[in-house]
Amino acid sequence: MDRADFRTPLREVMPGVLMKFECDNPGGSHKVRAAYRVIDKGIRDGHIVPGKTTIIEKTGGNFGFGLAVVCNKLQIPVELAVGLGFSAIKRRYLEMFGARLIGVELLKQGATPKEVVSRQLEQASRNGRSYFYTDQFSNIASIHAHEFETGREIVEQLHGWPTVKRLVFVACAGTGASFTGVARALMGSGYEVSCVLVEPEGCDASKGVFVDHPFEGMSVGVSPPFLDWGQVQDRHAVTFDAAMETRRWFCQRSGYFIGNTTAACLTVARRLAERMSDDQKVVMLFYDHGLWYSH
Ligand SMILES: Cc1ncc(COP(=O)(O)O)c(C=O)c1O
Repeated sequence: MDRADFRTPLREVMPGVLMKFECDNPGGSHKVRAAYRVIDKGIRDGHIVPGKTTIIEKTGGNFGFGLAVVCNKLQIPVELAVGLGFSAIKRRYLEMFGARLIGVELLKQGATPKEVVSRQLEQASRNGRSYFYTDQFSNIASIHAHEFETGREIVEQLHGWPTVKRLVFVACAGTGASFTGVARALMGSGYEVSCVLVEPEGCDASKGVFVDHPFEGMSVGVSPPFLDWGQVQDRHAVTFDAAMETRRWFCQRSGYFIGNTTAACLTVARRLAERMSDDQKVVMLFYDHGLWYSH
């Protein structure tokens, strides 16, 4: 497997809205690109030795699928601490993809995924096992994946819309790596770009305010470490009901069943596209499919 496996289409899914189909990637989302970069860098830096090292991470799903997909080929075992609040189907499929879900009993007793990872690393140091904690919230290889791959691909693909001069990039943030990486690539490519951050209603990452919500993957309770606030020109809040209405509307219109975070972004993109002029498009990511979410 190499980066060439991750090339995805850019489609104008409705007038004015260009969507990058990251759901077509192996592992089903944009996060496989981050996983590939993180593992590749870990191996090149000598921190990961295939056949010896086990990868460990706390993830709500998509980064875990990415890690499993990338590591299967390299015969590197992957252990994941997945919070019990995440989609049960996703958890089952992570195992099908070859990841080992750890700490389920501890999680049931109220431990956090972070505590599960810490416990496993402590035990490993006692029994001499070698782990590499990919730590997606502090590994900047993820930004590079989206700047030099996802974002650059979009720029190349935009040649298919030669009259476009201005872009509105509409995105959400978990780690913020895809927001920042893609925004940087678009801004560095000669377009006039403005970036819009989408958040669940009640969350305001700029103030560190988060509420519980069902949009798995975005606004995850910590301020997105990779979000470059200087790039965020506007913020829009979306209710879950509005996103689900957009998802129903979009699947009947296009046949594509989008995941919850994509539905949140499309809710905003759709509104903005109504005001676009001929030289302007909204760009957004189709992060993942909706089939594995329970609502
Ligand atoms: C479905 C989904 N949407 C959006 C995001 C946000 O991506 P990023 O971590 O690049 O901000 C994630 C992250 O896991 C995700 O799984």
